[in-house]
Amino acid sequence: MIRKGIILAGGYGTRMSPLTKATNKQLLPVYDKPLIYYPLSVLMLAGIKNIMLVVNKGQRQQFKNLLQDGTRFGIKINYVEQEKPKGLPDAFILGEKFIGKDNIALILGDNFFYGQSLTKKLRKCLALNMGCKILVHPVSKPELYGIAYTNKKNKIVSIKEKPKNSKSNLAITGLYFFDNKVIQYSKSLKPSKRNELEIVDLLNIYKNKNRLSAEYLGRGGAWLDTGSIDDYYNTSNFVSTLENRQGFKIACLEEIALKNNWINKNNIKKAISFYGNCIYSSYLKKLIK
Ligand code: TTP
Repeated sequence: MIRKGIILAGGYGTRMSPLTKATNKQLLPVYDKPLIYYPLSVLMLAGIKNIMLVVNKGQRQQFKNLLQDGTRFGIKINYVEQEKPKGLPDAFILGEKFIGKDNIALILGDNFFYGQSLTKKLRKCLALNMGCKILVHPVSKPELYGIAYTNKKNKIVSIKEKPKNSKSNLAITGLYFFDNKVIQYSKSLKPSKRNELEIVDLLNIYKNKNRLSAEYLGRGGAWLDTGSIDDYYNTSNFVSTLENRQGFKIACLEEIALKNNWINKNNIKKAISFYGNCIYSSYLKKLIK
């Protein structure tokens, strides 16, 4: 059973420069809230309360100003600064102490998930005992993504980076579930040509041991990544369309915490005074009416 999660919220954010020159991508707005709220909401929906947040060197305080220690959402956030973006598996080397003897979930700070059955799927993935499970989702342009090839038992038999004329359209999303061996395997990786530890190399270790499986978000689910400026605006539009149409918010962390019974009405009142007079606070007020 997985009870801990890591969010990778560092990175150069080169594709979004100059927006990312003075602040981190994950602190920029996706419609009405900072990007970091979305991956954090995913872990909270899964039921994970113990979270390590990896940020760039010198950026801890910026994130802390927003998220504090997590008590506002009934969770615990441990901040770890990454010297420089050394690659996704670096999360498990930095997180060795945090992970301890447990299994672990990893979500990329710039990934957006939404869908009716998301919580159910996530909770299923948390049951992982051994090996690695990754969330996959169809895309219309496999040539732009890391693509998984699966067999009938949902085991992943191969992974290809940005394949041309691919028979599979299952992109590997930024949400992964690992057993505790991930620490040892990550330490064994060598940096690639671009001088990063590569997640694909890590996944291939599991694949070669026949321990890499896929979970499908399904057609009713949405997965968007917010790496480029256009992706960013598309995600903002998606959130604004749904929120304004339906009248409820996506990734309202206090709402998720309240539903999980991690916080009470009093905590919501404190959150309202933390945010001040804004639309987000008006929404919180409605929750406790
Ligand atoms: P990337 O998309 O690889 O990098 P980036 O977001 O910095 O963007 P760009 O390519 O435009 O420079 O990273 C995916 C996510 O993982 C993103 O949220 C940043 C985060 N990340 C880290 O926190 N540490 C790392 O070492 C790396 C490589 C990424």
